[in-house]
Amino acid sequence: MLRIGNIKLESNVILAPMSGVTDRPFRKLVRSFGAGLVVSEMIASHSVMSETQESFRKAHCDPSDFPASVQIAGCDPQLMANAAKKNRDLGASVIDINYGCPVKKVINGHAGSAMMKDEDHAVRVLEAVVNAVDIPVTVKMRTGWDDTNRNAPSLAKKAENVGIKMVTVHGRTRCQFYKGKADWKFIRTVKDNVTIPVIANGDINNFADAKQCLADSGADGVMIGRGCYGKPWFIHQTNHYLNTGEELPDPTLEEQYHILRDHYQAMIDFYGEENGIRIARKHVGWYSNGLHGSAEFRNKAMRMSRSEDVLNIIDEFYGSLLHST
Ligand SMILES: Cc1cc2nc3c(=O)[nH]c(=O)nc-3n(C[C@H](O)[C@H](O)[C@H](O)COP(=O)(O)O)c2cc1C
Repeated sequence: MLRIGNIKLESNVILAPMSGVTDRPFRKLVRSFGAGLVVSEMIASHSVMSETQESFRKAHCDPSDFPASVQIAGCDPQLMANAAKKNRDLGASVIDINYGCPVKKVINGHAGSAMMKDEDHAVRVLEAVVNAVDIPVTVKMRTGWDDTNRNAPSLAKKAENVGIKMVTVHGRTRCQFYKGKADWKFIRTVKDNVTIPVIANGDINNFADAKQCLADSGADGVMIGRGCYGKPWFIHQTNHYLNTGEELPDPTLEEQYHILRDHYQAMIDFYGEENGIRIARKHVGWYSNGLHGSAEFRNKAMRMSRSEDVLNIIDEFYGSLLHST
């Protein structure tokens, strides 16, 4: 059984943090299917401390979400420590630190994967956060900055030494962004260097990937991001497969219809009509991907500006598919 400090996880398959995707409605839904842990979207430490509405929205969790991991990003030890404290007070049960984000805006602020370039400074930030809160602190990193600087094993060891309770490694360097293939075998060199749990991440899109990733990396668990697009049940299926070898079927089309409808309504309730419609579009697209006539359905749904109309077209689209089967 996977443990993060004093927290026992029910499964060793974790939902990856994804900005613009793993918001509260999605995390709640994935948890309801049985994910070991779900992680919030990255929140910049300075926006936590300026108490922006967006940072509250991203961090939002309540006791029923336990264990809820909230991810913060930044490079200033004090600011990061304060941001961690604030999120702990808002209900986070784990603080995750982002040392993996490759995007320019974050890198230019010396945060995300840029932190891997200066290990001493990276460790100072980790230490400040660990000392600031009484809940487990974890870190998510890449394998390194580029092919000649794959320092995840050494940074992970230093992280362990200052009290970090789990390390997740996305098996790419920063300079790869999302290109190429995640190097699951390299993650084994991190696993061999620490005693805290190591989670392997990157390119797990089916059950065989998950099994192979664990075999290659020797990791204690896997984290899945894009493989969950339109499939909030995938984390649970993967965990079941890894434990039993049994491939659970996807929910029936009728069940998927209800999951999408409820998820859509939850997004509208959470964000309000205007933002909700915009943010929900990608999910509507993902759920319907591959279904007969989905391109036309998506085209129409994407242009709609009232949630009621979108719900009606969802009813129509799934209704006609269900009648024709
Ligand atoms: C749209 C999107 C947003 C992401 N946002 C974050 C983030 O906020 N924090 C983070 O640590 N990683 C973020 N990531 C990286 C993922 O957590 C994960 O490491 C990466 O997608 C590889 O895993 P996958 O192949 O299972 O998707 C993001 C990835 C995507 C595709």
